[in-house]
Amino acid sequence: MKQNDITIRLEQQADHSAVEHLVREAFWNVYRPGCSEHYVLHVLRDDPAFVPELDFVMEQDGALIGQNMFMRTVIEADDGRTIPVLTMGPIGITPERKRQGYGKKLLDCSLEQAAAMGFGAVLFEGNIDFYGKSGFAYAREFGIRYHDLPEGGGRLLLPL
Ligand SMILES: CC(C)(COP(=O)(O)OP(=O)(O)OC[C@H]1O[C@@H](n2cnc3c(N)ncnc32)[C@H](O)[C@@H]1OP(=O)(O)O)[C@@H](O)C(=O)NCCC(=O)NCCS
Repeated sequence: MKQNDITIRLEQQADHSAVEHLVREAFWNVYRPGCSEHYVLHVLRDDPAFVPELDFVMEQDGALIGQNMFMRTVIEADDGRTIPVLTMGPIGITPERKRQGYGKKLLDCSLEQAAAMGFGAVLFEGNIDFYGKSGFAYAREFGIRYHDLPEGGGRLLLPL
């Protein structure tokens, strides 16, 4: 996807270390002293649940400014059904470009692609102030609880 000076494309192997650097910068000291999201992302790429078709980077004038990725997961329904869905993240925008609308652009474009691939929903823990702008609501509103976590908190869901 190309829009003005922004390009959103799939991550390539050659991007890996630059993307990990970007994620470390984006998350550093945001949720705790330091961060581990760049290492999490490094490990998740080799997980069988990783979805390479939904592993995006965002570029501005040829420079990497954002990334987002998805993993396959399931909802276990009370009637015994197993429903395939997605979980998402880390998503990060380089510190000097935060809060300028790039994260929402990247998120919305990624979600469109996920819907086009036929996934029914995306679930994860996040900040409703950001994700709510893209249509996410609390998972509990859909009667969904997260395995081994108490009900409530910032667990979010978006039906696609
Ligand atoms: C979270 C993140 C991806 C958002 O990207 P961004 O480019 O900064 O956000 P945007 O400018 O696109 O914001 C879109 C909307 O969400 C709101 N928003 C964004 N981040 C927010 C935050 N941390 N808290 C509250 N509202 C937020 C903005 O106010 C904006 O609303 P507006 O359009 O009405 O002004 C980015 O700030 C980031 O990389 N943060 C550090 C890593 C992180 O927390 N990742 C998410 C983990 S769940």
